[in-house]
Amino acid sequence: MSDAFHLENKVALITGGASGIGAATSRELARAGAHVIIADLNLVAGETLAAELPHARAVRMDVTDSASIALALDGVQRLDILVNNAGIGLVGDIAHTAEEDFERLMRVNVNSVFLVTKAALPLLLATRGSIVNIGSVAGSVGVKQRFAYCASKGAVQAMTRQLAVDYPKELRVNCIAPGTVQTPFVEGYLEKYHAHEKEKIRAELVARQPIGRLGTPEDIASLIRFLCSQEAEFINGAVLPIDGGWTAA
Ligand SMILES: NC(=O)c1ccc[n+]([C@@H]2O[C@H](COP(=O)([O-])OP(=O)(O)OC[C@H]3O[C@@H](n4cnc5c(N)ncnc54)[C@H](O)[C@@H]3O)[C@@H](O)[C@H]2O)c1
Repeated sequence: MSDAFHLENKVALITGGASGIGAATSRELARAGAHVIIADLNLVAGETLAAELPHARAVRMDVTDSASIALALDGVQRLDILVNNAGIGLVGDIAHTAEEDFERLMRVNVNSVFLVTKAALPLLLATRGSIVNIGSVAGSVGVKQRFAYCASKGAVQAMTRQLAVDYPKELRVNCIAPGTVQTPFVEGYLEKYHAHEKEKIRAELVARQPIGRLGTPEDIASLIRFLCSQEAEFINGAVLPIDGGWTAA
């Protein structure tokens, strides 16, 4: 087992790598032997995490801003793995989704995948690199009150398949579609929309996942590590649910 899924000497960049799923991924890829670049809006959190890990460093990156992305990639000589993880949520049906909120969500969740992947493409082509895009079950099924979020994660799945078709031998590009995972993203949602009934809503989030629990960031990070490893060499253009059985129903 210790020899499996190793990433020795691979260089991995993880957007939103300072919190939640991204932070667990930074830890897991570092544990697998990779040199990790934690690219996050929150540089302080990124630096704090990088200090705990072997061969890790943090860089400030706003994934919605091509100048910020270029600056963050400046000086990166080699890249084997890109995890497009940075993302935000938005609650609301179409009638309650403001145009500026929709556009912001699309910038953070969709334009980011375009901009960061495009900027990193020459480096990734040079190593026959692996890209893992973090989608969501919301890209596969309709989720109530998540009009914009579903649209954004559907686009992440579509970009994944399209890239795999254009670069079938030159890259591997896959998408992970998590169910609800216990991270600050979910805590922020509970605090903002359900401050007085957090435990009731948390129980509802658990109930929609047949396995009977929320995912952990480590559940997701393990799959990312596998997808980036040599053992996953034949997996390309795939969208993999990791949701405790939610979308099997
Ligand atoms: N938590 C869940 O239940 C869940 C489920 C399915 C999919 N996802 C997806 O997983 C990804 C990570 O979610 P999480 O729950 O770990 O969230 P999180 O809020 O814990 O972490 C997100 C990180 O992204 C960073 N970030 C936000 N905007 C950024 C920007 N413009 N540029 C650079 N960094 C930015 C934040 O600083 C933060 O460190 C997101 O794409 C999210 O949509 C989460």
